[in-house]
Amino acid sequence: MTPRRILVTAALPYANGHIHIGHLVEYIQTDIWVRFQKLRGHNCRYFCADDTHGTAIMIRARQEGRSEEEVIADMREAHIRDFAAFDIEFDNYGSTNSDENRELCAEIWQAVTDAGLVIEKPVEQFYDPVAKTYLADRFVRGTCPVCKAENQYGDHCDKCLSNYTPHELIDPRSTLSDATPELRQAPHKFIQLEQLHGFLTEWTQSGESLQPEIANYLKGHFLGVEGDEQNPVKELKDWDVTRPPEYFGFEIPDFPGNYWYVWFDAPIGYIASTKQWCDRNGENLDDWWRSDETEVHHFIGKDITYFHTLFWPGILKTAGFSLPTRVHIHGFLTVGGTKMSKSEGTFVMASTYVRHLDPSYLRYFFASKLSPKVDDLDLDLDDFRNKVDSDLVGKVVNIASRCAKFVAKSNLSKTYPDDGRLFEQGASVGNRIAEFYENCDYNSAMREVMVLADRANQFIEAREPWKLRKDDSRQDELRDVCTVGLNLFRQIVVYLAPVLPRLAAQTAELLNSPIESWNDSQTPLTGTRVNEFQHMMTRVDPRKVEAMIEESKETQAPETSAAPSSAGFSDSPEPLEKEPLTTEDCTFDEFMKIDMRVARVVEAAHVEGADKLLQLKLSLGGEETRNVFAGIKSVYNPDDLVGRLVICCANLAPRKMRFGVSEGMVLACGPGGNDIYLLNPDEGAKPGMRVH
Ligand code: 2FM
Ligand code: ZN
Repeated sequence: MTPRRILVTAALPYANGHIHIGHLVEYIQTDIWVRFQKLRGHNCRYFCADDTHGTAIMIRARQEGRSEEEVIADMREAHIRDFAAFDIEFDNYGSTNSDENRELCAEIWQAVTDAGLVIEKPVEQFYDPVAKTYLADRFVRGTCPVCKAENQYGDHCDKCLSNYTPHELIDPRSTLSDATPELRQAPHKFIQLEQLHGFLTEWTQSGESLQPEIANYLKGHFLGVEGDEQNPVKELKDWDVTRPPEYFGFEIPDFPGNYWYVWFDAPIGYIASTKQWCDRNGENLDDWWRSDETEVHHFIGKDITYFHTLFWPGILKTAGFSLPTRVHIHGFLTVGGTKMSKSEGTFVMASTYVRHLDPSYLRYFFASKLSPKVDDLDLDLDDFRNKVDSDLVGKVVNIASRCAKFVAKSNLSKTYPDDGRLFEQGASVGNRIAEFYENCDYNSAMREVMVLADRANQFIEAREPWKLRKDDSRQDELRDVCTVGLNLFRQIVVYLAPVLPRLAAQTAELLNSPIESWNDSQTPLTGTRVNEFQHMMTRVDPRKVEAMIEESKETQAPETSAAPSSAGFSDSPEPLEKEPLTTEDCTFDEFMKIDMRVARVVEAAHVEGADKLLQLKLSLGGEETRNVFAGIKSVYNPDDLVGRLVICCANLAPRKMRFGVSEGMVLACGPGGNDIYLLNPDEGAKPGMRVH
């Protein structure tokens, strides 16, 4: 098989908001596809960047009293951290505010100008004299000219559903400053998309580049069909691609004082991000963006279809870049069947999720739901828990945990035993599973893999290695059964590796053999050493799901905002303790109700934005862990705490704090400040022991 050269992008996230689980559908979907292609041996690269320009960033920077560059630098760090936490691995993560992007924008602008596509027209728009910027419709509110309902959007009334232009609003106000906006006129430049009508019809309707429902939507809404009376050819509107000052973006060389509209320079960011990677790796940009040998795949949400299926191919075509081989469009995430909601706590930020739950759960859950269709994807929390528990823990990891311990620190059988052709059958469905991945039909791929897991479990149940173990005369048989079980497990893990890279790494470690290629599923391992079995995945703890939802209720901005405001993360930790108890308050019996336990600190970290707090993960023995925020930062370094024993108050009701939910308290003495001494039992005490 000749390796394909494949360039993949996911939509560039705006630099004015944090990543949430709705965004993750796309970045995870794309990451799975890229990991799959890499595992198949293709030269596949995943490029992304922050989308940094526009009015929203400019306004945010002003509100925060910082430069736009400072705002976008901070958000970049947060985005990169959130993506990494979910094992989303880019080959390059750029920024639309980069030199590479500025140069490419100029080059492409020149090309569309030379092609005669650009036209200048005056535009009359509301201007905010206080914020000194023109106002997009969403930044104007006022009284509906039709039904007189107050506080309606600039172009649409929620009450009577009328559409109008912002200057028809009664008593219009700028949402940026509350000033009364003035109607002003400024020249704008437009791209005449209609000139590309023929090309766009051909490209969108080729059957190759778009899902059929998207091709039909474009035909029905924007393009029309020649000779079809029901759906006659429609004229594509000119696209307004420049903005007068003040605007945060790139100034246009041949139109001084004006800026490219954010949606002009954002997709060019795909090429700019590729360029950064090329420059770093001695590659030629033209091999990636101007070559018939290279496939270009964009993954996007359905809300930005228009930009990626009409403007973008039009621009690429005009400027002589490769057209997208395919635009893969997905639906939105709903939670419990409805829109993600800040008040319900279902608008979960990526950083909140990882404080409570294993990212692999979400990767698998999304994979099990994703299909090539544009349908919305629902995260039902019970379904989430059942799927992870039953498929990943109950079926997949169970295979390894039932076999590995009997051959740990020993070797697999030297020749692969008779397994009733199970491994061979598993190998033979590899191509089918690969095809499902290729077509983004992850749901079908996961179902196919779970059939293999069911068969492997049936094999182990029938052979009962736990019984063989007790019979000295059947130790070779035991080794054979475990050799089969672990090979079936590994085969499944190879097929799941694009979804669950951590599980693939753990499996490689257990069996002393890396998982680097899809072909690793085709040949069993024999004779290799097996390491001690390390715990791979736990069941979903419903209390942690609950805590995640609770925390999401607490830290969110008002419902109308698209992303949480930074106000939710300010530096003022809530007090940890209530007023001290007195003997009148607390009887002996009451005191005895306090469940004090020995606990071991398994993780400790600073809390971003908190003055006094450290975040501790405590083990209470077995699999029970607690997340505790403790006001001990003035005295303890997180690294020094990991591994030590503490006393934890274990039956306090979980407490919502600004930074998360605290599920207990660690006991310390001293007056406070720099005089805090953690109570700790002698080594030898076991986590979970009760303090009497
Ligand atoms: O919708 C969005 O979040 C945009 N920031 C996506 C841009 S994708 C690309 F065109 F840059
Ligand atoms: Zn109205």
